[in-house]
Amino acid sequence: MRRFVDLADLPREEIADLLRLASRLERVPEPGALRGKVLALLFFNPSLRTLASFQSGMARLGGATFVVSPGQGSWALETRDGVVMDGAAAEHVREAIPVLAGYGDALGIRSFAGGQDLAADLADRTFRAMDAVCPVPLINLESAINHPCQALGDWKTLDELPIAPGSRFVLSWANHPKPLPLAVPAAALHMAAARGHEVVVLRPDAYALPAVLMAKARSAAERAGGTVRETDDRRDALAGATVLYAKSWSSPRHYGDAAAESDLRAGLADWCVHESWFAGAEADCRLMHCLPVRRNVVVADEVLDGPRSVVIRQAHNRMWAQMAVLHRMLGRSA
Ligand code: CP
Repeated sequence: MRRFVDLADLPREEIADLLRLASRLERVPEPGALRGKVLALLFFNPSLRTLASFQSGMARLGGATFVVSPGQGSWALETRDGVVMDGAAAEHVREAIPVLAGYGDALGIRSFAGGQDLAADLADRTFRAMDAVCPVPLINLESAINHPCQALGDWKTLDELPIAPGSRFVLSWANHPKPLPLAVPAAALHMAAARGHEVVVLRPDAYALPAVLMAKARSAAERAGGTVRETDDRRDALAGATVLYAKSWSSPRHYGDAAAESDLRAGLADWCVHESWFAGAEADCRLMHCLPVRRNVVVADEVLDGPRSVVIRQAHNRMWAQMAVLHRMLGRSA
């Protein structure tokens, strides 16, 4: 495997292989599998889980990591092409990425959405430009429009619970003080569709996901025997649900317009997930969230601290899933 950038790039059998390997690595340690291998981690944005789980996962396989956070102890990096670099950035990714690639056997990059130009973010333009100059295997640690590591870990969590493919999976918009990227909702939507769920996207009208994301999910659902629809009716969406995946995201309608978005959110504080949301769901309906989560804004304490919540398990499964990716990318079978 040379690239782990979008779960949609992988055939179903390859995803199944990664999930089997992730479970095996969880049960049977392989502390020498990646001895002598080095993973370079380039984080343009903050992280708790992705940073720590890649470092821990690589160490558990006998390899090493180094981390570069541009502008924090290393040069600020420019990502745009054709700009006159007379601002804060001292170096361009066109040099920095090939340099880092010479120090590592694989590279992971986290580069969030710019949040101003919806078309550019939907096309993952910045990440794709860095991909084009990366000569070693590359892992997407969350780009403008994708988070495949989160999606693979979440798939593993659903398998383990187990949550049956075909059951109702609700991806719900949730309140948040700030407009957040579309990467996690896009990845969760596609993952649930590819797993064959009856996927319902629950959101206020102004937060309808871009058509291109819905179309991609619908075509994955068709192949897997699932369905995808959207609604703003909470009772309808949650009826018979087995999973509620909560996440906030920016309004595509007001993309890049923080003031309009802020006005919109002022009336949406009741989009904080409470226990009452689950009244019509299956009795053991689970609450998923990628974390970090703002308590009592996005999800209420009563849900996060209750038996529905699998958020810690999701975070732990990130590590096993990523170890499987690293194993296939850098191990002897690569
Ligand atoms: N879910 C996730 O990617 O967490 P971090 O932002 O902490 O890495």
